[in-house]
Parts: sequence; structure tokens; C-alpha cells
Amino acid sequence: MTRASISAVAALTLLSATAATGQDNASRRTFSSGYRFVEMTGEELFANVCQGCHMPDATGATGAGTYPSLAGNKTLEAGSYPIFLIVNGRRGMPAFGDMMNDGQVAAVVNYVRTHFGNDFQDAVTAKDVQDARH
Ligand code: HEC
Repeated sequence: MTRASISAVAALTLLSATAATGQDNASRRTFSSGYRFVEMTGEELFANVCQGCHMPDATGATGAGTYPSLAGNKTLEAGSYPIFLIVNGRRGMPAFGDMMNDGQVAAVVNYVRTHFGNDFQDAVTAKDVQDARH
């Protein structure tokens, strides 16, 4: 083998190694972030994400599992509580942290905290969500 062909082989090996690593990273990313919601308003997000379990009127349901009512729910008084649950999940409540950006989490939190008989007017911000992600 000439010197030139040896370095060509080395370069190729390096290239395919890089390509393989790139692919690995890509599939890890796809696996961890998965589906991302495109809805931006709290109302749309609630309708498409939350009401499947918590019901359209947010009163929850009991059947195969227990989905607590979010209507007139005092636990929503501290905005950090629903933020934490949506980002991290808890038992039967899935984590949506990888599927929603900070603004989306804040929007749906503010929506449930001001609808369904809840009247907590101190809106949470995208910054609050960002802080809760650590
Ligand atoms: C797959 C079903 C499911 C979906 C979808 C879901 N939740 Fe939940 N949620 C639950 C379950 C189950 C619990 C109870 C968790 C537990 O037992 O710890 C819960 C608990 C909660 C609580 C705490 C209530 C309390 O009284 O402590 C809040 C707030 C909440 N969910 C908000 C939301 C919001 C907002 C969305 C949409 C972004 C959402 N959930 C989507 C199943 C779901």
C-alpha cells in the first residue's frame, strides 16, 4: 500500500466512525425528545394533551386509573406544583417536559389555573418553568 492509500483508508475510517456517532446521537435525541406538541395556547394544549385523562371539564375520572379533578383544585394555588408535575410527571401522570417548551408548559399551567373554577391570577412565566427543569 502506498502512503496515500493508507491515509485515505484512515480518513475513511474516521469518517464512518463520525457518521456512526452522529447517527447514534440522532437516535438518542429522537428517543428522548420523541413527540413534541405544536399547540401554543393553554386552551389548545389542554384540549390536546390534558383532557384525555382529566376530561374536557377537568373534573377527572375514575376507571382503569384515577385522574384527579383539576376543577376548583386548591393544589393549583402554588403555580410551581402543576409546573413540576407537567415537567416531571408522577405515577400515572406522564412527564411532558421533553414534549413541551417552557412557554407551552407555562401556557397550559396558566390556563388550568384560571379556568374550571380556578381563579389564580398570578401567572407563571416561561422562566419559572426553565428554573423548575433542574
Ligand atoms: C395519561 C393521563 C394524563 C394526562 C395526559 C395528564 N394527566 Fe395530569 N394527572 C394524571 C394522573 C394519573 C394524576 C395523579 C398523579 C398521582 O397520582 O400522583 C395527575 C395529576 C395531575 C395534577 C395534580 C392534581 C392534584 O390534585 O394533585 C395536575 C395539576 C395535573 N395532573 C395537570 C395536568 C395537565 C395540565 C395536563 C396536560 C398538560 C395533564 N395533567 C395531563 C394523568 C394525566
